[in-house]
Amino acid sequence: MPKVKTVFTCQQCGYQSVRWLGRCPSCDQWNTLVEELVDPAQASESLASLQEPVSSTPLAEVSVEETPRLRTGLEEFDRVLGGGLVPGSVALVGGEPGIGKSTLLLSVAGALAASGKTVLYISGEESLRQTKLRATRLGLSGAAVHLLSHTQLEVIAEAIRQGRPDVAIVDSVQVIETDALRSAPGSIGQVRACAHELVRLVKASRCALFLVGHVTKEGALAGPKVLEHLVDTVLYFEGEASTGLRLLRSTKNRFGATHELGVFHMTAEGLVEVRNPSEMFLSDRSEPVPGCMVTVNLEGSRPLLAEVQALTSPCSFGLPRRRTMGVDYNRVSMLLAVLERRAGLGQLGQQEVFVSSLGGVRLFEPGADLAIALAIASSLKDRAGARTDLAIGEVGLTGEVRPVMGLSQRLAEARRVGFRRCFVGPTRAPLEADGLEIVTVRHLRQAVEHLLRKDPAP
Ligand code: TYD
Ligand code: MG
Repeated sequence: MPKVKTVFTCQQCGYQSVRWLGRCPSCDQWNTLVEELVDPAQASESLASLQEPVSSTPLAEVSVEETPRLRTGLEEFDRVLGGGLVPGSVALVGGEPGIGKSTLLLSVAGALAASGKTVLYISGEESLRQTKLRATRLGLSGAAVHLLSHTQLEVIAEAIRQGRPDVAIVDSVQVIETDALRSAPGSIGQVRACAHELVRLVKASRCALFLVGHVTKEGALAGPKVLEHLVDTVLYFEGEASTGLRLLRSTKNRFGATHELGVFHMTAEGLVEVRNPSEMFLSDRSEPVPGCMVTVNLEGSRPLLAEVQALTSPCSFGLPRRRTMGVDYNRVSMLLAVLERRAGLGQLGQQEVFVSSLGGVRLFEPGADLAIALAIASSLKDRAGARTDLAIGEVGLTGEVRPVMGLSQRLAEARRVGFRRCFVGPTRAPLEADGLEIVTVRHLRQAVEHLLRKDPAP
């Protein structure tokens, strides 16, 4: 009888080898060979079963029973999931090491257990004692959460099968290993095989599963990226290590909208939900300062005020540097060119330019263009806009300013926080903005001139 064997398959070109190779001889890529299991008996069996007729179901006849979602009680978390946890679903929670994934999921486990659900928290990285210490810190020492500290896939699968929890949490998928493969834990083959097995297991039951996965800034670790297609929901937990702010985003969600945002604050007693996060991303200065502009970022259904800061300084030697943090480098390069060529700021070419977003918020949507461009212009001319100014709009290559989606929602948020004047692109319908002065600008040059016209009141 043919035995199960392992082969190494190139993830780029599909080349197969019986031993591991650092470089694929077929496509010359490095580190692309991944260990996989091949069971010839199973393969021929499944081929044989294909001989039988397969019946498909007309769409109209598919019955959908509304399954109630499990509310975790952490509102920010539930919203990102699209209104709670779907039984039998699998969510991947990615994030850099130390950002607070274990803390978040232990809090979720505690909240679920408090509402009478059975929760199994499997930690492959920490001992039971360490997890208990963390739970004590979070005020959850008496929570009815079941703990398991193990890294063996077969043991974990058995624990889920026997314990039949409503929710299982595997922290983290990179340390889980299976005997079936010889490669080291954390390698792509291991991570994928283990995750696949766990997903198969919970899909057959009603257990919801959270898989924790570490990612590094460079994306160097094998992990979350290769699992995204396997799971129903992908959540990323991020934030600046230096600030206590933590953002939870969904980048994929089979049961709700993506790009929803949950905001938390990491404190000594664990994660605290931030219900009105807009104020947190603004600096508390009382005087207007050149180089700053506020915009409203729309994350999913949630408008969020964010501040852009820019600094230009003359370059005395060599090529001027351009650095960005929290904003898209390529968009900043494009905006610099538009400011130079279309808005009359030709001297930008000899300036070093630094642009960053405040508080670790990521401003990658085009709606932030106008604010970024105005912040740069304001720094270059050393003229500040008012502290209560903001700008929302996409800037095109000709310098035209375009409106962005969800504008009325964004304006409402700006008004709520107390902003008084907003630069926007032209819109078809008139904008309603009680107490907010709307300055419609068709071109970036017009916006720059308007902003720098006079020293506005603070
Ligand atoms: P952790 O959840 O272990 O991160 P991850 O699982 O993503 O690697 O979080 C670790 C950090 O969080 C650590 O630096 C300490 C900090 N922390 C707090 O500030 N307050 C707390 O209550 C807890 C439990 C952790
Ligand atoms: Mg952890």
